[in-house]
Amino acid sequence: MEQTFVMIKPDGVQRGLVGEIIGRFEKKGFYLKGLKMVNVERSFAEKHYADLSAKPFFAGLVEYIISGPVVAMVWEGKSVVLTGRKIIGATNPADSAPGTIRGDLAIEIGRNVIHGSDSIEGARKEIALWFPEGIVEWQNSLHPWIYE
Ligand code: TYD
Repeated sequence: MEQTFVMIKPDGVQRGLVGEIIGRFEKKGFYLKGLKMVNVERSFAEKHYADLSAKPFFAGLVEYIISGPVVAMVWEGKSVVLTGRKIIGATNPADSAPGTIRGDLAIEIGRNVIHGSDSIEGARKEIALWFPEGIVEWQNSLHPWIYE
């Protein structure tokens, strides 16, 4: 089944929003398949955001991501990439709808508490980058209660 990569950024961790954010994905019905807290090296943050290296906000973005531990996760479920992005909300919290994570929990674009892969291919690359050791294999017994 489809998987996506989600990262709670340093502000989300420092503000005590880890449980709140995990709860939103869990309550939706998605399965948590990988989870770890990491201090990201500068070179790793630059690799994760390599596509944005020419952007004027790149340096500040990298500083932000390495400013404290992040929580890296793999979530699984039907259309989890697209639906995960909907749960997260628009990039700029000023434009994120109420009810979304960024819409409810953040104010500024440079402190938007969470990252989620923007495509299936992007998710595949990000999961490989963040979880080179792989993830645990298990089947959630809730399956027949979430999917027809
Ligand atoms: P991007 O990949 O465009 O957004 P998203 O995280 O929603 O996929 O940008 C990555 C991060 O870069 C974004 O979450 C916040 C930061 N950012 C800025 O700080 N300023 C900006 O103008 C933009 C577009 C992004």
